[in-house]
Amino acid sequence: MKPIRTAIFGTGFTGRVHREAVRRLESVEVVAIAAETTEDARPLGANFSVPTLTTDYRELLRDPAIDVVHICTPNAMHFPMAKESLLAGKHVLCEKPLATTVEEAEELVSLAARHGLRNCVCHNLRYYPMVQQMRRLCEAGDLGEILVVQGTYSQDWLLYDTDWNWRVDARVGGPSRCMADIGSHWFDMAEHITGLRLTSLCADLQTFHTTRKKPKHSVETFANKLLGPEDYIETAVATEDFGAVLFHMGVRTRGSVTASQVSAGRKNRLSIEIYGTRSSAAWDQERPDELWVGHRNTGNEIFLKDPSLLKPAARSYADLPGGHSEGYDDTFKQVFRRFYATISAPGGATEYPQFVDGLRQLTILDAALQSHQTRGWIDVPTPTISH
Ligand SMILES: NC(=O)c1ccc[n+]([C@@H]2O[C@H](COP(=O)([O-])OP(=O)(O)OC[C@H]3O[C@@H](n4cnc5c(N)ncnc54)[C@H](O)[C@@H]3O)[C@@H](O)[C@H]2O)c1
Repeated sequence: MKPIRTAIFGTGFTGRVHREAVRRLESVEVVAIAAETTEDARPLGANFSVPTLTTDYRELLRDPAIDVVHICTPNAMHFPMAKESLLAGKHVLCEKPLATTVEEAEELVSLAARHGLRNCVCHNLRYYPMVQQMRRLCEAGDLGEILVVQGTYSQDWLLYDTDWNWRVDARVGGPSRCMADIGSHWFDMAEHITGLRLTSLCADLQTFHTTRKKPKHSVETFANKLLGPEDYIETAVATEDFGAVLFHMGVRTRGSVTASQVSAGRKNRLSIEIYGTRSSAAWDQERPDELWVGHRNTGNEIFLKDPSLLKPAARSYADLPGGHSEGYDDTFKQVFRRFYATISAPGGATEYPQFVDGLRQLTILDAALQSHQTRGWIDVPTPTISH
């Protein structure tokens, strides 16, 4: 079978993760990389034997041999790159957030539909095996009626005012930083696991560092600890370091979440806890193979990942036997495998987050920004979503 030919835009943290994950798929070849500079492109291209390297992504869009584009660039580039890719007839896998405004995301959803192209937004964190197990516990009614959904997504890499990344700048990252960057993963997961939808919310956002020291040279994501204190420019910051959101999911379910990029010691702690009328389940991304299951009248359990013990519908998200850990990298493989299956065999089920799910996150983010500005509760419009 002719391999699917893919181009990746962006060579930073996520571009490399995508490159590696695509390489694990059968019948997909990364044939081109678009980078910001030639120096960025060269190591990735050479290490992975990618034949075409360019600093002009449009050159790749003009190439009829390229079937798929992965967009792994800063957020504000997602909309123009995705739009142009769809118009050029490419299937698109875009990093989250899909765009920086609801209007942009709506346009991408309708463009993809009009052109009949596969579209995916990379909410990969859904695809940890134990997250899928939680989803199926909810679906089977094992937790009872869901009363409370709560959690956090906490990191520490922007704790100091000397910490800088393009995400800090609203022109490059969009009007929301912490909520868009990591809160969106949490909300996507909460709706995916429970099958419930946020119906209203009340948000409080905080920018602790209203100015930051911007390095004179560009800094790759998570690499800022390697810099010395020299050569910074004092720069005003409008995007939030922290957000707290109270929310309703329908008539009875209640929830709360915090997202933070200033929590010392928390590297990538997405924690989600679901409390039902029968029992509870809790999961923490920093211990991905463990699921805590809580009971009122018997001992609590720690369920260790083992495909043979997972609910049948969760099993296909675990590739390795019990005791063989599966982590962050593997979630990309799970998304990509399902995305590419719908390209090689069109007409099958689309079991991955699509642009409508990216639009959903933009809608929630927009409500959070409005709520913060007006200091009040905001209704979240009912979504059309794929999951
Ligand atoms: N799904 C996840 O788990 C996850 C994790 C991290 C980041 N992300 C998302 O991935 C995207 C990139 O984030 P990152 O952390 O990799 O950032 P990064 O700064 O590490 O990388 C961004 C890359 O884009 C490149 N770039 C900039 N302009 C370009 C252009 N015109 N053409 C081609 N390349 C260009 C930069 O040179 C850099 O290599 C963001 O949207 C972010 O939200 C997703």
